[in-house]
Amino acid sequence: MSNLMRAALLREFGPASNLTIERIPVPLPAAGQLLIKVRAAGINPVDYKTRNGKGIAAKELVLPAVLGWDIAGEVVSLGDGVSRFDRNERVFGMSNFPHAGNAYAEYAIVQEDEFALIPASVSNEVAAATPLAALTAWEALFDHGQLAGGQKVLIHAAAGGVGHIAVQLAKWKGAYVVGTASQQNHGLLNELGVDLPLDYNTQDFTVIAKDMDVVLDGIGGENSLRSIDVLNPGGVLVCLPSMYKDDPVILEKAASKGVMVKWMMVTPSGERMEQLADLLAVGDLKVKVDQTFPLEDVGKAHEAVETGHVTGKVVLVI
Ligand SMILES: NC(=O)c1ccc[n+]([C@@H]2O[C@H](COP(=O)([O-])OP(=O)(O)OC[C@H]3O[C@@H](n4cnc5c(N)ncnc54)[C@H](OP(=O)(O)O)[C@@H]3O)[C@@H](O)[C@H]2O)c1
Repeated sequence: MSNLMRAALLREFGPASNLTIERIPVPLPAAGQLLIKVRAAGINPVDYKTRNGKGIAAKELVLPAVLGWDIAGEVVSLGDGVSRFDRNERVFGMSNFPHAGNAYAEYAIVQEDEFALIPASVSNEVAAATPLAALTAWEALFDHGQLAGGQKVLIHAAAGGVGHIAVQLAKWKGAYVVGTASQQNHGLLNELGVDLPLDYNTQDFTVIAKDMDVVLDGIGGENSLRSIDVLNPGGVLVCLPSMYKDDPVILEKAASKGVMVKWMMVTPSGERMEQLADLLAVGDLKVKVDQTFPLEDVGKAHEAVETGHVTGKVVLVI
């Protein structure tokens, strides 16, 4: 193994063209860490927001930096004290979020307690597409929303990275799911098991969706404000885009209706990755890879996600 590797480096915040492929040293694992040969890296909206210098991850980032948090690959070497993994095992996880994840590179250092084994039947691309979106969906529905079987949930952006996974987790739990997407994605919503698909371009969800126990909102702002109208008193609105965090107008309206609002930030967890791996292994969770790009085309991959209209996930194959 050469001690240099290819990586997509961000030297300055800005457009996708600021991501350049360079050769940098292969890092060494410290205690509790794994060196991974990265086979695939998932791309999330937080990647391009950070590239643009926006959000919490950008505040923490020291440039030049390697972006990306979702990693699937093989264990190459182990730091001291690593007990859960061996060399050559395939692993996946969301690395070090919201600190630098260093995913867009041939090799990456990760914490063993944030990773899990990839089931034999799951490809590296699907594994890389899973962590951040699936951890978010799980936390939003089951930790913040306390969604239980028989309850009703409205999932906005149900065809997107988080949404298409959230729909499947909610159905697995036995909930009734209302999901929003443009008409062209309603085939996917039906496949995923959405009970009531709504076209946000032509249908007003506040008129059709009623008595919801939980709303998962990946859109934010006005959409969050309107979502309060469909919740039962005691219901929970979980908001994903952090730019609207603690918006007083949303908080006031929620308080007047007896609804809870939670802005969440996803946390890495190897234990939860194991639960997700089990669901992937038995087919209760199917993560859809919409497009793949080679590392060299990382800019194009960012631009694809930045359209805000991917169905499922975009993945870099390394
Ligand atoms: N706080 C956290 O910890 C956290 C974690 C994960 C994600 N997030 C944030 O959550 C948001 C969603 O993430 P994601 O990965 O799911 O994004 P994504 O995959 O880029 O979402 C794309 C989807 O959004 C749908 N969409 C666009 N406008 C819509 C609208 N007005 N109503 C309903 N659906 C609409 C699109 O469907 P159509 O093509 O049919 O329009 C598309 O399928 C992002 O802002 C992300 O940064 C936050």
